[in-house]
Amino acid sequence: MFNIVPQPNELIITGGKTRFVLDEETVITKMPFIDEFRHFIKQQFDIRIHRDSQATENAIRLELTDEADSDEGYRLVSRDGCIYIYARAENGLFYGLQTLKQLLLQGNGVVPDLYIDDKPRFPYRGFMLDSGRYFQPVSEIKRLIDLLALHKLNRFHWHLTEDQGWRIQIDKYPLLTEIGSHRSHTNFGLRPEGGFYTKDDVREIVDYCHRRFIEVVPEFDVPGHCVAAIACYPELSCFSRKLKVATHWGVKHDILCAGKESTYRFVFDVLDELFSLFPDKWMHLGGDEAVKMRWKLCGHCQDVIRAKGLKNEEELQQYFMSRVARYVYEHGFTPIMWNYDGVESVDKLDRRIVWQMCGANEENGIVRKELAAGRKMINASAFPYYLDFPYGWVDLRRAYEYEPGISENILGVEAPLWTEYVPDQKTADKRIFPRLAAIAEAAWSAPEDRSYDRFEEGLPEYFDLLNAYHVHYATLKQALPGKLRGKAQSLWFNRRVLHWQGLHNLIDDARVEAAHKNDRK
Ligand code: ACM
Ligand code: ZN
Repeated sequence: MFNIVPQPNELIITGGKTRFVLDEETVITKMPFIDEFRHFIKQQFDIRIHRDSQATENAIRLELTDEADSDEGYRLVSRDGCIYIYARAENGLFYGLQTLKQLLLQGNGVVPDLYIDDKPRFPYRGFMLDSGRYFQPVSEIKRLIDLLALHKLNRFHWHLTEDQGWRIQIDKYPLLTEIGSHRSHTNFGLRPEGGFYTKDDVREIVDYCHRRFIEVVPEFDVPGHCVAAIACYPELSCFSRKLKVATHWGVKHDILCAGKESTYRFVFDVLDELFSLFPDKWMHLGGDEAVKMRWKLCGHCQDVIRAKGLKNEEELQQYFMSRVARYVYEHGFTPIMWNYDGVESVDKLDRRIVWQMCGANEENGIVRKELAAGRKMINASAFPYYLDFPYGWVDLRRAYEYEPGISENILGVEAPLWTEYVPDQKTADKRIFPRLAAIAEAAWSAPEDRSYDRFEEGLPEYFDLLNAYHVHYATLKQALPGKLRGKAQSLWFNRRVLHWQGLHNLIDDARVEAAHKNDRK
């Protein structure tokens, strides 16, 4: 029996007498996306599969048909010594090849007569990488993208701007990368850190994704998480404060001023350059963890609250997000934001903004109410989908068993990797795998077919697949740690509290309060 991840909708060993045998004579239909499959076969079997669109013996035949009922679905048939993959679109054929990799690996190059009918549950199946807290080289991102495609994920959400680092070249504001992409140290005396993506790097990543049927969702996080930008252009903040690129983790109290027109000009200028780099028409605007301390004291912000008839700073954030979102969809892009802040009541928040659910505001019923009112959402609930959480908080079973489809308006699923504690690829691997497989099944497989026990039984084959990609995954013992080991993992993780600079924030707030309490009219 085969263990394919994510679990296909239907897999039947048909019991025929023939079988497909991979060897030096095997050929594959010419298609623009087959090289990564051929590369995999070369790596794993040392066999070079030739391209031939006519052969009918010992062939992997890829055929576009109109019988499949979804663009990403496919049927895979092993019969008469050939593999046939049928799909309505190239994505489906590509996913058929991802399945075929696993069949070949598990069958050691031999596939018995079988039949697979498969299609995804959700159209949005994402992974988020935080390149703000730590910069990852292009080569590492490409490797991750290969792994996303292997799991039949189709969205790469790229978190590019943070308090601790601005990572993308913007021609109109060169300081963003000259100054904003480096920090002097990390937490208490740890190493300096820096790096950014040139526009050519970005185009290279986007193209790499497209050749794997992955759309790219860039994130420009506003109005919070902008200390690196403020360090370059102080006038973006309420009191034009001179700050350094943040060196400690935690939620910062200096955010973009929502009262100055110059802030909106900056945001729109940056968006203009992002529009031309990201053709998939998604634009994530962040919106999370926007602490309102400065806005309460700022004359500019208070003027806008009065002039627009807003109730409070919460509604000022809704005004800010809605205005920026309007700019985004007027350019043909879909705006997304975290459902984290500025959403206690949503009277002033544009319904065309897609919410990325991270769990905030779930308990008070706003998520359900908004879903019922028609707002689209991507389910990225922190518990259990934040990949950076220790397995002691979210073990593999919990990640697997969570049911994301809480409404018709859920577009799909996303697993974010925040990187405060993920400085390198090896650590990233441990956090992502095997949890990503559990989440990929929630995104792809039919809900009635999902079973954790079956999933766990298939892990040895899944780990073999990861070995083929040289992934430093967490073992089952690490991913399902039990009480004691889980406690140890959590304790280790909780050292983050020390890095939150709570005391520094308090002192700084008092200083700002003393200097500016008279600005408030
Ligand atoms: C978030 O967790 N900052 C969205
Ligand atoms: Zn302000």
